[in-house]
Parts: sequence; C-alpha cells; structure tokens
Amino acid sequence: MANNSEFSSKLGLIAATVGSAVGLGNVWRFPAETQAHGGAAFLLVYVACVILFGVPVMLGEFSIGRAGKSDAIDSYRRLSPGKPWWISGFLGIVCSYLILTFYMVVSGWTLEYLYQSISGELFAPIPGVEEGSNLQFADRMQEYVAGVWPPMIWTWITIGLCGAVLCMGVQKGIERASNILMPLLFLILIILCVNAMNLPKAAEGLEYFFKPDFSKITPKVCISALGQAFFSLSLGMGTLITYGSYFRKDTNLTRTAFTVSLLDMAVAILVGMIIFPGVMSFGLQGESFDGSALVFVTFPEIFNNMWCPQLWSSLFFILLAVAALTSSISIAEVSIAYFSGHFNMKRVPATCAVLLPLVLLSSLSSLSNGVLSDWTICGYTIFGACDALTANILMPLGALIMAVYLGWFAPKGLMQDQLTNGGTIRNRLAVPVMFLLKWVTPLLILVIFITSLFM
Ligand code: PHE
Repeated sequence: MANNSEFSSKLGLIAATVGSAVGLGNVWRFPAETQAHGGAAFLLVYVACVILFGVPVMLGEFSIGRAGKSDAIDSYRRLSPGKPWWISGFLGIVCSYLILTFYMVVSGWTLEYLYQSISGELFAPIPGVEEGSNLQFADRMQEYVAGVWPPMIWTWITIGLCGAVLCMGVQKGIERASNILMPLLFLILIILCVNAMNLPKAAEGLEYFFKPDFSKITPKVCISALGQAFFSLSLGMGTLITYGSYFRKDTNLTRTAFTVSLLDMAVAILVGMIIFPGVMSFGLQGESFDGSALVFVTFPEIFNNMWCPQLWSSLFFILLAVAALTSSISIAEVSIAYFSGHFNMKRVPATCAVLLPLVLLSSLSSLSNGVLSDWTICGYTIFGACDALTANILMPLGALIMAVYLGWFAPKGLMQDQLTNGGTIRNRLAVPVMFLLKWVTPLLILVIFITSLFM
C-alpha cells in the first residue's frame, strides 16, 4: 500500500505542486467569481482565506501524505488504523471525480481556442456581427459553449491527453513540463498585464478590482471566496496528500506551502489585472454576460488590440491548456494512486478505470451548457452544480474534517514532527499553524457554512 515514488528535485517538486495549483481555477474561475461577488471585496476575503485557511490546510495535507506515505485514503488508515478518518480521503475521491466532470469540459474549451488561434478563425469576422464590435467574441463563445459536438469532442481529446500522460507515470512528465512551462506562463501574463494597462478604461478596471466596497462582504461572498481559495490551491480533496507522499524526507514543508500559495495567488491577481481593465474597456460588465465565458472573451479582445493577435493568442492558449492539463492530471492522480496502491492495479488499467466513466459524465456536463440546460438541480445546471458543490461544500468539508483530525485526533507530535522534519530544522510557525488548524480553521469554516445556509 505504501508508495515509493518521489519527486526528484526541490525545483521539480515546487513546479509540480504549483502545476497542480495554477490552472483554470486562477485564469477561468477566479475572474468569474470576482465579477459575480463584488470585485475588490471578493479579492480581499479571498486573500484572507488563502492565508488563514489555505496555508495551514496545505501544510496539514502535506504532513498526512508524507507521514502516511500513501494515497488519500490509505495515508489516514496507516496513521490511525481502525478509525474512520479515511472517510475524509474517500470524500476527496468523490469530490475529485465531480471536479473532473466540468474541469475537462473547460480544458476542452481552451484546446478549441488554441486551435482557432493557430488557424486564425478566432479573429475572422462573424457574418452578421460588425467587425470589432464588443459582441464579436462574446457571441462566438456563447454559441460555441452551447453547441453539441465540438465542445464534447474537445472534452474527449482532453481526457485522452491526460490519460496518455498519466499512463506513462507522472513524476518525470509533469515535473519536466512544469519546470519549463510555469515560468513561461508568468512571463506572458506579465507582458499581457503591461498591455492591459494601456486599455482605455484600465484605471476603472483596477479600481473595481482593488478598491473594496466593504458593504459587499456577505456570508455568500465569504463562502465563495473560501471555495475559490480551496479550489485554486487544490485543497480539501486529497491531491496534496497524494503529492505530499511523493515529497522527500528533507523537504521543507512550510517553505513549500508558502511558495506555492504565493505563486498561485500572484497568478490570480495578475489575471485580474488583465481581465478587469478589459471588462471595463469592452463593456463586458453586467448580469447579461455569463461569467464562465469571461476569459474566452476578454483575452481575445485584448489580443485583438495588440500587434499580431494570432501569435499572442496561440501562446496564451498553449500555456492555459498546459496549466489545465497539469491540474487535471493532479486531480485524476488522487483516484489513480488509490486504485493502483490499494488494489495493486498497474498504472494503465488504473488510469482507464478512472478516466473511462468520465467520458460519459463530462459529456453530460458539456451538454448541460446547451441542449441539457433544462436539467437543473436547485437552479444549477449539471456543470454549475458540480462546480458549486465541490468548491463551496465538499472541499471546505474535507478540509474541516482534516483539521479536526490533525488538531485533535492524529497521533501525538505528527504535525510537529513533519513541520520540523523530525526536529532537524527550526520552525517558528509550527505552533501558530497547529493553533490555526485546531481552533480557527474548523470554527471559521463551520461559522461560514452555517451563516451561508441561512442567507
Ligand atoms: N487548483 C486547480 C486550479 O486552480 C484545480 C484543482 C483543484 C487541482 C483540486 C487539484 C485539486 O485550476
């Protein structure tokens, strides 16, 4: 049941973990959530959630993984045999599956946009829509998402690509690709950010993103910001327990957690600094616009105002597709690690067992943006329900159970031992982190949950 795989270098470990964290959550989900929940007010609560909950919960997951040296379920079983804490890992696997159903669909959108950028179709005029009008890209996206075959076929292609990498084994593939591509993603975001500052309503966009209106902070905003923090940092569903089990004995967990969280937050903030000047300048604010299409409209609009739009667009969508792929792989790895470890399955059958049912489920999720949009659960489509259920409920719940376990029921000294590498390094943060996990994280998550139920 134990796994003996390890990341081969410090840099590779950070790159792979950042590769898991940085994905569609930062570029696609974050701006849509920010726009839906009051702009800067959302950003403020999100940053607080990353520091107060994100970093301690990440340290908790790393510790359980590295101490248990196994997948999300069996790490708990090995640390506390005979106790029901493994249920938290099981919930993680269910949650990871639900995430994949919509994550693969949006990853497919990025591939379509990459294809259209390279072929130049994306910037070709649409018959009936005036060229250069604000509607050019919005129309194109909304029509595409609601279609039947193209989004579904791209979803299948994404699943196939992930399957191919996962079958080969993760470490070398993900580690190597992330080492090169993650720095490149940063670089291109910085270039786009400089460009966005020259848009006509850049100042208005920045004000919307950075100047909070405190009256907008409601329990609903808090639960969404908490969900976004967990989603973006890949927390609460066992991914980082699984990755933690690949860490070496001498890895400094605290430094790793801070580096990953800060880089992840930096990407989200850079994206916001590009998107909101774009939103204001191209008139994409307002309820009529579906937030989930936001980046697919704003970014092309910005490219269209730059020299050689096709080049920038292709570069951006390659990087977004890779970011989506490294994250999808880390989500699927939770279940694959469990199947191969627990049932002694080889990697290829374990990967097939996880990805094949997904073909059907993600197709349904894709169709729910168009022909199946009438199939709703509490007002959400299948796509929207999986997103809201996982990020806003299952991930915080997973983190809540884990914090209660680590704070109150885990073997004595487990966290202290992991945070100080068995007493070999000093760690002044070990005590505050333990305090946060024992008291603050569970209590605040509970309060946010309960108040949001009644609002
Ligand atoms: N953090 C990833 C993103 O921001 C998504 C993810 C969620 C990955 C959960 C792993 C686990 O896109």
